[in-house]
Amino acid sequence: MKTLIKNGTVVTASDTFKADVLCDDGRVALLGEALDVAADKTVDAAGKYVMPGGIDPHTHLDMPFGGTTSADDFESGTIAAAHGGTTCIVDFAIQYRGESLRKGLDNWHAKAEGKAAIDYGFHMIMTQVDEGRLAEMDKLVGEGVTSFKLFMAYPGVFLVDDQSIFRAMKQAHHNGAVICMHAENGPAIDIIIDEAKRMGKTHPKFHSITRPSRLEGEATSRAIALAEVADAPVYIVHLSAAEALEAVREARDRGIPALAETCPQYLFCSFEEHMDQDGFAAAGYVCSPPIRPKWHQEHLWRGLRNYDLACVSTDHCPFCMKGQKELGKDDFSKVPNGMPGIETRLHLLWEGVRNGHISMNRFVEISSTAPAKIFGLHPRKGTVAVGADADLVVWDPAKELVLSHKTLHMKVDYSPFEGRKVLGAPAAVLSRGEVIVENDKFLGRAGRGRFLKRATHAR
Ligand code: URP
Ligand code: ZN
Ligand code: ZN
Repeated sequence: MKTLIKNGTVVTASDTFKADVLCDDGRVALLGEALDVAADKTVDAAGKYVMPGGIDPHTHLDMPFGGTTSADDFESGTIAAAHGGTTCIVDFAIQYRGESLRKGLDNWHAKAEGKAAIDYGFHMIMTQVDEGRLAEMDKLVGEGVTSFKLFMAYPGVFLVDDQSIFRAMKQAHHNGAVICMHAENGPAIDIIIDEAKRMGKTHPKFHSITRPSRLEGEATSRAIALAEVADAPVYIVHLSAAEALEAVREARDRGIPALAETCPQYLFCSFEEHMDQDGFAAAGYVCSPPIRPKWHQEHLWRGLRNYDLACVSTDHCPFCMKGQKELGKDDFSKVPNGMPGIETRLHLLWEGVRNGHISMNRFVEISSTAPAKIFGLHPRKGTVAVGADADLVVWDPAKELVLSHKTLHMKVDYSPFEGRKVLGAPAAVLSRGEVIVENDKFLGRAGRGRFLKRATHAR
């Protein structure tokens, strides 16, 4: 099967050039001006950009959490991702207490198989770190699960202590894995939450108020210190606060392999606008780390520009207002933590290009190339190059869209960006050379996505 993308401008993390792109048998076969070759399908990209499909390295599909389960499964979530120009995700499998890593991973394979519409990999969440699980880490690395998430937050659910974190990092030093860290000081936060509840505070805004940014900064510094001594790379997930970014910057300036991602909700939503409002709508913005005061945003954009932040993921963890977020109607601490975003990441980040925060090449880098490199998918994914998988987005910078849960494809009854006008959207999306979205129509199929065995982290 040959697909030819004609007349477009190719944008990679490093280059911008006019070229036609021939995809053959799932891969990019030829790049060149005015290619005169026969193809089964031709896509006209005149006036458009041809970029590597988005790679979202942080999603939670079909995830039990907060007394309910995230609203998108691997079918609806990956179809929504494809509509937004994302052609690959790395989701978080979970090892629950008392379970083996094997059991947790098999559980997530079963959730994805036959459902995913785009290619996918798994990180493994570890809730226990002992000799048996450390040995299992090596086995999983051999199976292409080359990153593990640990939590310094959510006591009684996911939290592990510093000794466990340090053990896992030392193992990662030997087996080449990356440790992904949820860096918030959960035990201290729990005390602040209890105090607020005792004072009768119930509104969802107290979710933000009880999780100070200083305690994200503290946990980030601690995670980096442990990683530095263990001599292993650490990747801070969903970084939201200037204090945490400062810890990453300081470490990177010393040459320590500290990496970090942020998410669109931290770049575009603020405490003032979205949390500090009457009524229950703020519950739709409850996530951890929480939505911060607006002044943090300029630090995050600067971090993206100067490489202290490596990637923008979504942390897609959607819960409907009705029946799910409502669990915390009378108690902010019972609102399930998480926001939808798998479909709108590129639309929102493109606003960063339009208003001069980042270049087009940096847009490609933070949304595709850097996640591919960090998580062992490059050069197969994350770039437009001969031999790479033809996972591509034909991006129309003139296409206008009004974001609304009614027209987006995520299975959730609200959008944090309801009514927001964006300029720039996918005209076509290709997964391994197959056009899976064209003119907002899904042409792919659930189950066509393949599990990706990822390489270890190249340092
Ligand atoms: O609020 C969030 N972030 N929910 C998803 C779980 C996590 O901590 O990543
Ligand atoms: Zn987390
Ligand atoms: Zn997450």
